[in-house]
Amino acid sequence: MTFTPDFLRRNKIEQVRLAAFTTMRIGGPATLVTLESRADLAELLDQPHRWLGRGANLLIGDAGVPEPVVRLGESFEALEIGAVVGGRARVRAGAAVDLAELMAACVKAGLAGPEGLAGVPATVGGALRMNAGTSTCWMLDWVSRVEVVLPGEVEPRWLERSVLPASYRSSGLPHGTVFLGCEMELASADSALLKVTATRLKQAKAATQPLALPSAGCVFKNPAPTMPAGKLIDELGLKGERCGDAEISAVHANFIVNRTRTASCADVAVLIRRIRERAWRERGVILTMEVETWNCPVELHMHPRELVGVAV
Ligand code: EPU
Repeated sequence: MTFTPDFLRRNKIEQVRLAAFTTMRIGGPATLVTLESRADLAELLDQPHRWLGRGANLLIGDAGVPEPVVRLGESFEALEIGAVVGGRARVRAGAAVDLAELMAACVKAGLAGPEGLAGVPATVGGALRMNAGTSTCWMLDWVSRVEVVLPGEVEPRWLERSVLPASYRSSGLPHGTVFLGCEMELASADSALLKVTATRLKQAKAATQPLALPSAGCVFKNPAPTMPAGKLIDELGLKGERCGDAEISAVHANFIVNRTRTASCADVAVLIRRIRERAWRERGVILTMEVETWNCPVELHMHPRELVGVAV
């Protein structure tokens, strides 16, 4: 990892434990780059790196990662709410904007759509990248254009939402795409009603998810809309199982919580292996990770057939 003096002057570089930058509170050491200058994007893209948003959907290995970890700084935090014309308004948000802030601004301005994402912890960039969402809507439902740098390129470009092959928890763009921001064309609506909806969604989450303890949200994708992973893991009787300080949540079985904030990635990996092996052996279901993993044990992504017999 080498940066020019100009890059070092314009951007912040520090040695950190990544645990402090993830909602799971797990992750070893790394070099953290806070990118403040758009002009330095090309230099950064020229070498191995990883992008970090709010760290809300991320499990990082106990050894950390060797590549610099990059988060977007203040110059990517612009949020513009346009005037309503003909019942619609244009909203533009940089990738570093907190999704909750975007949602609250749209609710206040009486612009409908993003209130459906109430309670989803993410930056705008992270939410675009993984098409974050709830059981009723996804981030890309509300977006008209995204600003990205595609793998192998250095110049940002705007892509129309209609060309993105987005699906459940995926933007459809290739791995390595950098998301810099998005535009939305939203219909005007009654701000008070939008607020009621957002509050109701947040309350429903708080009632069914273990939000008081560190976690990375739902660990697995739902294998099918009719087969939620949480219900399946619950039926397998795995709620409350522990390894070290990691626990399959007794509140929602698709969450693994870091009970004491001292659990290791190795502890979490044992529980993930256990769940995937049981789901395969007893139900013939392949559970795939919803949570992104950095430098974690390879078994987390192996076919569960190969896990049968692995000590868990
Ligand atoms: N269920 C159980 N036991 C459990 C958990 C759930 O029986 O321990 C049942 C519930 O009773 C319900 C069904 O499973 O009948 C679905 O549960 P829930 O309504 O909680 O939704 P989900 O499919 O588990 C999805 C998203 C969540 C999002 C919620 C609410 C996925 C993997 N998860 O959860 O997203 O918050 O809907 O909109 O798509 C995340 O992405 O990290 C996440 C938490």
